[in-house]
Amino acid sequence: MGNKVTVLGGGAMGTACAILLSENPEQEVALWTRNPEHAAIMAQSRQNERLLPGVKIPASVAITADVAAAIEGADILVAAVPTAFLREALTDWAPLLTADRPMVSVIKGIENETFLRPSEIISEILGHRGVVALGGPSHAEEISRRLPASVVAASGDLSLAKRVQDIFTTDRFRVYTNLDIIGVEMAAALKNIVAIAAGICDGLGFGDNAKAGLITRGLVEMTRFGTAMGAEASTFSGLAGIGDLVTTCVSPYGRNREVGERLGKGETLEQIQADMKSVAEGVWTTRSVYELSDQRDVDMPIANEVYQVLFEGKSPTDATESLMLRPPKR
Ligand code: 13P
Repeated sequence: MGNKVTVLGGGAMGTACAILLSENPEQEVALWTRNPEHAAIMAQSRQNERLLPGVKIPASVAITADVAAAIEGADILVAAVPTAFLREALTDWAPLLTADRPMVSVIKGIENETFLRPSEIISEILGHRGVVALGGPSHAEEISRRLPASVVAASGDLSLAKRVQDIFTTDRFRVYTNLDIIGVEMAAALKNIVAIAAGICDGLGFGDNAKAGLITRGLVEMTRFGTAMGAEASTFSGLAGIGDLVTTCVSPYGRNREVGERLGKGETLEQIQADMKSVAEGVWTTRSVYELSDQRDVDMPIANEVYQVLFEGKSPTDATESLMLRPPKR
């Protein structure tokens, strides 16, 4: 008898995970999405038309807005809701989650005000159940179309990370394991800030040299911040670090990169957010990282400039000048 895996969140990543997990015929897969109308349309059309148009959701995926039905009998849960909604969602699910079923987080952010990582929010609200963070270059648009991807499953409990590796692995989805859950979650969140900056480069027409420089220095900054929070430096040169950073900074699908590009072309954050189909986590993460780096005295020049552009009305051109004319580095 196989596992039942329940994916909580019907966004692009949740839908892609459900499609991927359903490739294993031994696995029963449920996909919960909050909006009943959305669930009914998806169940009928077998597509997430808004976020993954043209991609078929196999008939074996049970799509529902009834969270109790989705969770019933699940051996393992996958949390795929934006960081800002996670606390509230977990509070709703908590009474239904009596057994200590492990949870996989595919969420890439840091909560505002508490500065908690998704796995910490999960542990805080559900008690000390096993949590695994799945990170790495993993655009839903590609995974759902069976394009090859490689990711890392991180947990302080290696046997649980290996179980998640088994559950997610397919011939097109390669999963590594790692004990450094702090590093994997930090990298996943921080790369979104650099992707906004990379998008600004695109919007301003700055070219490849500027973007490569930004990615390189962005990785230095991510590593500095992550290690100050307890992460292993080596995680940042792996799939969750440089891997996800590259894909998010160059991808035409990247939501965070898109926010930056549109800022670079002169739109305001309000205009951009008004017509985005899904959440760009980096906007919120920038606020958390700006405040936390100030508290902990970690030098984060790129994140600082992204913050100024997003929330303080600084122009992308002025932010570029501030970065380029900082006191020289060795
Ligand atoms: P975006 O949210 O910027 O699209 O990034 C997705 C991602 O994390 C790919 O690995």
